Amino acid sequence: MKVAMLTSGGDCQGLNSALRGVGKSLYKIFGKDVDIYGIRDGYRGLIYGDIRKMDPSNFSGILTLGGTILGTSRQPFKTMCLPMPEFGGKTKLDMMLENYRKYKFDCLVILGGNGTHKTANLLAQHGVNVVSLPKTIDNDLWGTDMTFGFQSAVDIATHVIDCIHTTATSHGRVFIVEVMGHKVGWLTLYAGISGGADVILIPELPYDVDKVCKVLKKRKMQGKPFSILAVAEGAISKEEAKLSKKEFKAARAQMKEPSVSYRLANEIAERTGQEIRVTIPGHFQRGGSPCAYDRVLSTRLGSKAAELIIAGKYGYMVGIVNGETCKVPLGDVAGKLKMVDPNAGIIKEAKRIGISFGD
Ligand code: F6P
Repeated sequence: MKVAMLTSGGDCQGLNSALRGVGKSLYKIFGKDVDIYGIRDGYRGLIYGDIRKMDPSNFSGILTLGGTILGTSRQPFKTMCLPMPEFGGKTKLDMMLENYRKYKFDCLVILGGNGTHKTANLLAQHGVNVVSLPKTIDNDLWGTDMTFGFQSAVDIATHVIDCIHTTATSHGRVFIVEVMGHKVGWLTLYAGISGGADVILIPELPYDVDKVCKVLKKRKMQGKPFSILAVAEGAISKEEAKLSKKEFKAARAQMKEPSVSYRLANEIAERTGQEIRVTIPGHFQRGGSPCAYDRVLSTRLGSKAAELIIAGKYGYMVGIVNGETCKVPLGDVAGKLKMVDPNAGIIKEAKRIGISFGD
């Protein structure tokens, strides 16, 4: 059996431990009857044929290693079916199918997030035997309760908020910590709650800046001049929520500040006269060793992916629902975002203890 593997899109913690889970399981069952190939830098390596044979030693000692031993890259889905002059008019999809067939792979294991899954589904529709695993710090993949990388990123963002807390209290300042998460608020919500943020702003609950200022003023009147705001990089105001996609893009292109947090900082400073600082941990949140939770999750998902390969069941993403691993058809996953439900229990519980969502 010939199995190929690739990691695609933004990296995160747990990629190597997931590869290890797949590799160790396959070698244990098939022994010398399996050849595993590593494809370099995500779909780029499949397009250009940058493919190397691996051996069991490649999967040892990588449980705790951050990043990905295979490398990764972003290859936008919308470019996959465009004719490419450099390939004599063939598309990236054509090139990937050619290489998959040239190597006579029996299946392709794809570790990726949302964009990656659109292409994974496209490959499956063109006859590639795909099994995929959900990775991303954003936790926005449909069909799984949890993606690996998420809990590690929550730990890092929480640590940032903890550290900001001490300096914010000393100086009596308002701090905005901008948290990653692309278009969804999971990471900000979890880090905000665990870091004890006073205000959490997420895309799913558009904010009213006056309501945010009201919270800050009230805290000041109560003798708490410091406040912490956990703001998702994708947070939007109530006015922005009313705009069409096109209008929103145009409005953001005109925004003079580099991100929503800086805009908010200016708006709050104008309205309250308070001193504001912005902290952006950025890609730090995707770095380093996976936390214990992610090591377990990615190992389980890797092992589950191997189970599907052993059974010859293709066209699925492995996921975790209610604590048990499962398989979800790729067609159900591709193109869907798992967003925070504004009416979810976690939002109500956070509001009950006094956290404001500025809504
Ligand atoms: O999808 C993971 C993520 O880290 C998002 O949270 C963030 O918006 C994006 O990737 C950053 O992408 P890049 O690594 O291309 O800058």
